[in-house]
Amino acid sequence: MNQLFKEFEDKLDPSSREAELLSSIDPDKLPRHIAIIMDGNGRWAKQRHLPRVAGHRSGIESVRAVVETAARLSIPVLTLYAFSAENWKRPREEISTLMDLLKEYIQKELDTIHRNNIRFLTIGRIHELPASVKTALSAAEMQTRDNTGTKMVVALNYSGRLELVDSFNSLLEKGVDHPIGEKDIDSRLYTVGLPEPDLLIRTSGEMRVSNFLLWQIAYAEIVVTEVLWPDFRERHLLEAVLEFQRRERRYGGIRSVTFESAR
Ligand code: FPP
Repeated sequence: MNQLFKEFEDKLDPSSREAELLSSIDPDKLPRHIAIIMDGNGRWAKQRHLPRVAGHRSGIESVRAVVETAARLSIPVLTLYAFSAENWKRPREEISTLMDLLKEYIQKELDTIHRNNIRFLTIGRIHELPASVKTALSAAEMQTRDNTGTKMVVALNYSGRLELVDSFNSLLEKGVDHPIGEKDIDSRLYTVGLPEPDLLIRTSGEMRVSNFLLWQIAYAEIVVTEVLWPDFRERHLLEAVLEFQRRERRYGGIRSVTFESAR
């Protein structure tokens, strides 16, 4: 077991399910980028006869848990779908609670994030968010910009289709004078410089990609769990990583591709 895993293991109760899962994970075959569609907050609240926003509030605990676990596993990138461009259709109070929760999360967690060498980043049409949210986000990006550990990417006012529209328009503005290729599109995505997600997790059982990272998930393994987002914890992330490691990845070929040659 490598040193990082050893440190992680030392923090776990040896008889716990988490320790058992960790011991089955191959540290040489970790995903380089895990993307998560955090779904089921509303259903979680409904089951408890609580307002929908109680589900979002509870979902913050899950965010904390996955960020901590991803950092402990040294996953290079973790992207969380926190607010889609379509989410503006929700009731005004729900939107403002989500924005408040985001600010609250940054206020409470930024020091811990920074101490753990995590770099905070955002993707999406950030310029359309309320000013107070933009201020909190840029403070978080600024404070953590030199961190070299896990990149925590929060997708806000995000739409995979609009990301492609923005990429194409940015190429047009640049005045491209040759037929557009994949590399040109890649170079203008919000995720430029990040590896593509190799594991996409969706909670609460829905089998949809919901306009999330449409271009980047071309070869991602998709793991859908029935667990509702507010119940998602360390063990569920470890289970998803194990499931990912069990899959045979072929990238359109006929043989399973080794992790080294896929990179
Ligand atoms: C989907 O559940 C969840 C969301 C739209 C919001 C997720 C946001 C958070 C957990 C908080 C902010 C995040 C960060 C990174 C600090 P839903 O409401 O669609 O659930 P339902 O499908 O059961 O109704």
